Amino acid sequence: MRPAELIEQKRNGGTHDPATLMELILAYARDEVPDYQMAAWCMAVYFNGLDATERDALTDAMVASGETLDLGAALGRKVVDKHSTGGVGDKTSIAVGPIVAACGVPFGKMSGRGLGHTGGTLDKLESIPGLRVELTTGELVTQVREVGMAIVGQTANLVPADMKLYALRDVTATVDIIPLIASSIMSKKLAAGAQAIVLDVKVGDGAFMKTIDQARQLAADMIEIGEHAGREVTCLLTDMDQPLGRAVGNALEIHEARETVRGDGPADFTELVLDACARLLAYSDLGIDVDEGRRRAETVVADGSALQRYEQWIRAQGGDPDPDALERAPVRTTVTAPGDGVVTRVGAHDVAIAALELGAGRRTKDDPVDHAVGVLCFAKRGDTVLAGDDLAEIHARDDAAAERAAASVLAAYEIGPEPPPERGILLDVMP
Ligand code: URA
Repeated sequence: MRPAELIEQKRNGGTHDPATLMELILAYARDEVPDYQMAAWCMAVYFNGLDATERDALTDAMVASGETLDLGAALGRKVVDKHSTGGVGDKTSIAVGPIVAACGVPFGKMSGRGLGHTGGTLDKLESIPGLRVELTTGELVTQVREVGMAIVGQTANLVPADMKLYALRDVTATVDIIPLIASSIMSKKLAAGAQAIVLDVKVGDGAFMKTIDQARQLAADMIEIGEHAGREVTCLLTDMDQPLGRAVGNALEIHEARETVRGDGPADFTELVLDACARLLAYSDLGIDVDEGRRRAETVVADGSALQRYEQWIRAQGGDPDPDALERAPVRTTVTAPGDGVVTRVGAHDVAIAALELGAGRRTKDDPVDHAVGVLCFAKRGDTVLAGDDLAEIHARDDAAAERAAASVLAAYEIGPEPPPERGILLDVMP
């Protein structure tokens, strides 16, 4: 295998032999192929794509590059998992986990940190004082057995090829390539051992996939990779033109996830969480369908057992589940409506950039994250507002940062005379 030949082959629109492609990826993971050659290969893939056989070989190589985990065998249960392609205000797993666990289905999830607008699930969880995300595989299994759930950091030896390749893509403008995203996401799910996976593919201004057609293509690729690996996969295609729920920022999102687990969350976020739970429960070994899954998810939220499970889980990982223990930003400013009308747009990307500038996200992978800061978007698309009504609230470290963020968030809002076309959170379900 000569990397330069593979780069040339892909640059010229050719197709790789699967075994040779696997060799390239495994050699890269072993540091035997330099970053500059992989970067050139990724750019060739950006222009000429990968076919299904190449994409599946890439995924197999990613999985084979490190250890795998068989959580199902360790627990003696069928294991289900969920994953989101990433969006603004996306704290779904933090609310889904306790609900699914309270319904009697084990939920052991490996998550990542965010690079970009706001923190990832791990950053959000670390805004809970004392909470530990670096559990060993043994600790993960024990906790899922005893508490029913855990969300932990991905260990460095699980899919190391993806860790390296993703970091390279991130700085070479080669993240947004559908087969590479599909392979990257699915390799991590397959290596973590889930037998059935619910994928939340975000669509819109604040997501990788800007259009529903791109999202459908990504979903189709991930479903095919799942089939190739003998796993069940469902993709929810969900709206990311506006932030999910109200909260964008780490501690603020933890607070909102907890509110949702106890039945007091924002409508769009609650709908997404309950729908994902229903499908995970239907995939589980409980032997129920999606409608019954939905009923059970609603029941554990209403009777308080999901909240109880949330508190047990946070304590098991060393955290304090009391929402008053979350750090609060010292400065709060409201953003008010400049006139009467209906909210027609709350630009997810603009709100995310405001949150990033407040310090809620990181620009490079070693940047610290400020857990306390962020934005609460009270008014969402379709809401009627009067001049002077609160649209949003900025949580900032100082007045200057608050003022800058307030101006950006105000620019994210569009208010018009007519309501926008009605659109729920769930745009499509595949297959
Ligand atoms: N998330 C991933 O895990 N990988 C990608 O390539 C893109 C988003």
